[in-house]
Amino acid sequence: MYYNQEIVEEIDDGDIYLRKLTKNDAQFLYNGAKDKRITKYMVLAPFPSLGDAKKFVKRVLELWENRQQFSYIIEIENPEYKNSKSKGKNKNKNKNSKKNKDKSTRSKKNKRKSAKNRLRIGLINLWNISWTHRRAEIGIWIVPSHWRYGYGKKAVELIKMVGFQHLEFKRIEAHVVTQNTPSINLFLNCGFLKECVLRKYLQLRGKFYDTILFASIS
Ligand SMILES: CC(C)(COP(=O)(O)OP(=O)(O)OC[C@H]1O[C@@H](n2cnc3c(N)ncnc32)[C@H](O)[C@@H]1OP(=O)(O)O)[C@@H](O)C(=O)NCCC(=O)NCCS
Repeated sequence: MYYNQEIVEEIDDGDIYLRKLTKNDAQFLYNGAKDKRITKYMVLAPFPSLGDAKKFVKRVLELWENRQQFSYIIEIENPEYKNSKSKGKNKNKNKNSKKNKDKSTRSKKNKRKSAKNRLRIGLINLWNISWTHRRAEIGIWIVPSHWRYGYGKKAVELIKMVGFQHLEFKRIEAHVVTQNTPSINLFLNCGFLKECVLRKYLQLRGKFYDTILFASIS
């Protein structure tokens, strides 16, 4: 159903890149899932071994093939490769750049460039997809050393573009634990509206959390 939509494998805004997860990302996911600063308010939990992370990636790629989940690695230009005309990392600069970003954003179908000059900084996905109702949920994490540079916001803006413009979803949700202030502010900042609080909605490591339902609609 609705399988005519373009499945975007790579998209960028000139500053950050989202590209389809690959088998080579298992170690990166393994490391990320070990970091309690990342997983504190997430369902994501440490993998018992690298082998488990590899199996996880395999399952996620199957979900991609079945169009049930689209997981993207978030990348930036590797600072070691950046030349002098590189763009600054000052997030204030990003605030008024929507117009330019819209112009420079492009997507590439079934095409992946060499990522040697890029640095992986996180993961973002569209999951819990309902093609019948044309909706999905966003999940995102960024490695802590790259927090507060505006990358989370840029990644959410790009995934909204994938969801609304390419996949033609009507609604994208985010479920955020009420204590997760950075994430709450991130989604508010990206134009999501708080619709309600889902009480005791998520059980994370034995504790139940109230969760805010955010949504953006096309
Ligand atoms: C949530 C997360 C992805 C934000 O990534 P980020 O790259 O640091 O976010 P940005 O720099 O793009 O910030 C965008 C906005 O988010 C909000 N924000 C981000 N970090 C914040 C913090 N520590 N405190 C308060 N607001 C914060 C701000 O509104 C910010 O905009 P501003 O800087 O103009 O005020 C990151 O903190 C993270 O990976 N957290 C752990 C994983 C997680 O909880 N994911 C969400 C699950 S629903």
